[in-house]
Amino acid sequence: MAARGVGLWTRLPLGAQAGGRVQRPIHRLLSYPGTVAADLKREEQPSGNVETGSEDRTPQKRFSEVQKERREQAQRTVLIHCPNKISEKKFLKYLSQHGPINNHFFYESFGLHAVVEFSQKESIASLQNATRTPGLGTEAVIPFRSRFFNLKLKNPSNQTSEQSSLQCSDQSPPSSKRLFELLHYAESIDDQLHTLLRELQITEENTKLRYLTCSLVEDIAAAYFPYCTVRPFGSSVNSFGKLGCDLDMFLDLDELGKLNSLKTSGNFLTEFQVKSVPSERIATQKILSVIGECLDQFGPGCVGVQKILNARCPLVRFSHQACGFQCDLTTNNRIALKSSELLYIYGALDSRVRALVFSIRCWARAHSLTSSIPGAWITNFSLTMMVIFFLQRRSPPILPTLDYLKTLADAEDKCIIEGHNCTFISDLNRIKPSENTETLELLLKEFFEYFGNFAYNKNSINIRQGREQNKPESSPLHIQNPFENSLNISKNVNQSQLQKFVELARESAWILQQEDMDRPSPSNQPWGLAALLLPSVANSKALARKKRKRPTSERIKNLLESIKSNNTENSTDTNGKGTISTQA
Ligand code: GTP
Ligand code: MG
Repeated sequence: MAARGVGLWTRLPLGAQAGGRVQRPIHRLLSYPGTVAADLKREEQPSGNVETGSEDRTPQKRFSEVQKERREQAQRTVLIHCPNKISEKKFLKYLSQHGPINNHFFYESFGLHAVVEFSQKESIASLQNATRTPGLGTEAVIPFRSRFFNLKLKNPSNQTSEQSSLQCSDQSPPSSKRLFELLHYAESIDDQLHTLLRELQITEENTKLRYLTCSLVEDIAAAYFPYCTVRPFGSSVNSFGKLGCDLDMFLDLDELGKLNSLKTSGNFLTEFQVKSVPSERIATQKILSVIGECLDQFGPGCVGVQKILNARCPLVRFSHQACGFQCDLTTNNRIALKSSELLYIYGALDSRVRALVFSIRCWARAHSLTSSIPGAWITNFSLTMMVIFFLQRRSPPILPTLDYLKTLADAEDKCIIEGHNCTFISDLNRIKPSENTETLELLLKEFFEYFGNFAYNKNSINIRQGREQNKPESSPLHIQNPFENSLNISKNVNQSQLQKFVELARESAWILQQEDMDRPSPSNQPWGLAALLLPSVANSKALARKKRKRPTSERIKNLLESIKSNNTENSTDTNGKGTISTQA
């Protein structure tokens, strides 16, 4: 369930206009155009306290409100595969026969697609009734009626003249080269972190596409479970998702249970006749197996369906080719949905949180500390927990502890899942903003120093209490699961991956210490966050050992020169790294 990253950053030419740092044009973050701004109704201002938590906050929506609104929107939305040559005006006029259209956008993924949101749900039935099932000549078709349509032109030559005005929404992150340029021309390291967030975060259109995909899968699952819901969770909705990240979905069958509990009036009680199986896990496996089969056989756009039913958390993995997502469908995974809500709250409490998490995730991906395949490496989820924990440890704290959020909860927030207390406040407007005014630059540096020196051998990271605790078991890295306290979310991380993380954290702390923002740079050298995303000295040395004839990289030369001329009190070891004492 891990994200695809921006790929390894390499040294890139910056083009003829690139100058030294002093010539950087102003690239102020005026607003977050993406999902969270829309969902939270929050706007960044170009001045004032934007980089701290002390800005006046406008009312922000609860996680459940966002999910409800988005789901309802998605149910009024259709996905249409269009011919490449199409007139937008005629297209909209044609669809308007079925009712008013709220909004629409086009994007490219295995051909041109349109996402069209009607104002009323009835328009969907009207469109479906006016749609035919194709005959494919010699091949037979399965006559499945969904909300994913093909639009054909009866006479293609009529449409060509107006086609040029069609604007496509981008569903993938910008290239490394583009990001590198934007970082280079940013005003400050704080600005760099905001720039990275602005460029990588999931957009409004991409969010709509994610909810639509869940809604299309829900239609299929509803053939068996009419009251089911399919909800997105994980980074698609917790505000830490990057364009291109996977789509985690939760098949929720509990609506049926809720309805049943209502039918208890009088002296009679009716229950459905059901089949029983020996365990909850087996029930989950059976349900997912059938839904996986349906997606494979009938699901338009669903390809590469894999049933991974023996995993700790059984899932069905597939790609929705038309939407462009790798999807992981799970059920009986309600705690993960609660974790998503918790992260959403943390992400919304202070404008520095998401900027820092995005940069750390990007840094980890650039250095192959995280991967899209499962293994002994740290996950994005664990990294996010580490950032939250670090922000709880600041003085004054930037984020409250989970226990504190629990004390603020009211009766309707009470939530026990499988015996675990998952209660915390859902109305984030009632949480007091932090008094802490530290800059992102400082926080980034301190994050690396903190985790470059953390006593991993004896301490555990615990966002519930926001303090280091004795490790209850011997895994190299222990991050307590916030809701299932006996579990370690980073149990998979081995000693060598942890060591790599620590070395890179120390190296990055040292690089940031060398940054002098007021000193004009003589060349187009990457600076600040961009410098941290380049291959590390340690990695470059390993590479150099492999390819002995290759000249020393520019970066090593720069670092060595910087060390020679460095008059600071930091001592350096022979690797060119700052020597940082360790408690571990
Ligand atoms: P990406 O890498 O962007 O996909 O981040 P993500 O947060 O979506 O992570 P992932 O897809 O791996 O997992 C989806 C969600 O499952 C997470 O957000 C968590 O809520 C939950 N999750 C993932 N790993 C663990 C784990 O080890 N323990 C627990 N309790 N929950 C997990
Ligand atoms: Mg995910």
